[in-house]
Amino acid sequence: MRSDLRGNNNDSMESITTSDFNALQAYLRDACGILLGNTAGDLALRRLRPVLDGYHLVSVGDLLESLGRPGRPGLKEAVVDAITLSESQWFGEEAAFTVLQDSILPEIAERKPGKRVSIWSAACATGQEPYSVAIIADEFRDRHPDVLGGIRIVATDTSRSALEVARRGHYEINPRTKEVSLGRRERYFVPLANGGWRVSPDIRALVEFRELNLLRRTLPGKFDVVICQDALVYYSAHKRKAILTRFHAALNPGGYLISGTPGLAGEIPDLFEPVECPGGTVYRKR
Ligand SMILES: C[S@@+](CC[C@H](N)C(=O)[O-])C[C@H]1O[C@@H](n2cnc3c(N)ncnc32)[C@H](O)[C@@H]1O
Repeated sequence: MRSDLRGNNNDSMESITTSDFNALQAYLRDACGILLGNTAGDLALRRLRPVLDGYHLVSVGDLLESLGRPGRPGLKEAVVDAITLSESQWFGEEAAFTVLQDSILPEIAERKPGKRVSIWSAACATGQEPYSVAIIADEFRDRHPDVLGGIRIVATDTSRSALEVARRGHYEINPRTKEVSLGRRERYFVPLANGGWRVSPDIRALVEFRELNLLRRTLPGKFDVVICQDALVYYSAHKRKAILTRFHAALNPGGYLISGTPGLAGEIPDLFEPVECPGGTVYRKR
């Protein structure tokens, strides 16, 4: 299970002082729109440790002081990167992939037969999510030849280091976790001589990676589906609304938002209507 900055995660050896924690919580809220739960201080410190070491800072207090001074390029971005954690899993939020495979792709194929399906994986981290989407779409195409005119996936994130990993498409896959079935591994991955697996060229060719900060801009073009898992949860309601308004604008009429973010339905009644599918709830553009 992923660690949650909104919840109780006191599993670190290192402890943050109360005053550093209060100041960090206020900085993240006011300067970045990120909400840090009251019990997530030690987890935040653990995530920030590489940033502190990299910038030769001793404490979170030093970090906050540096953030207030000019001449530390990239420091704020490094903090946001560390806090929002570029962690991803193959077929991570299972419900999202079930809904995509069993409900959304069949509906799009019926509504616009023979046309290309465009999918935006927003906040794609190290790439497992968009490659999982590509595999699901390719399997759908195999089962229903000719109903889709093509597959285009644009995957974006703010983290340059995560995007580098994603573009490389080279992963360690633990067979015991069953996150990627044997069949999918054999079909969609190439084993590497030095260990690990590389996503097959066919699947890599379906995904284009771009750097993009969801708080600042949207993607040009229109999409049938936006998938955004485990990223909105970090942001305040105000910032979330701004991001969701961008997703709304980027979707084709009738397009879908897939996001397991708790409480989303109540925040976006003017933009999206919830659609209950056998695998879970998705949101259709109004
Ligand atoms: C926990 S990962 C989730 C990855 C993937 N969506 C998944 O569920 O497997 C969160 C990602 O959100 C990205 N992120 C956070 N804030 C962002 C923003 N404002 N714009 C773009 N990406 C952002 C982070 O860089 C990180 O890679």
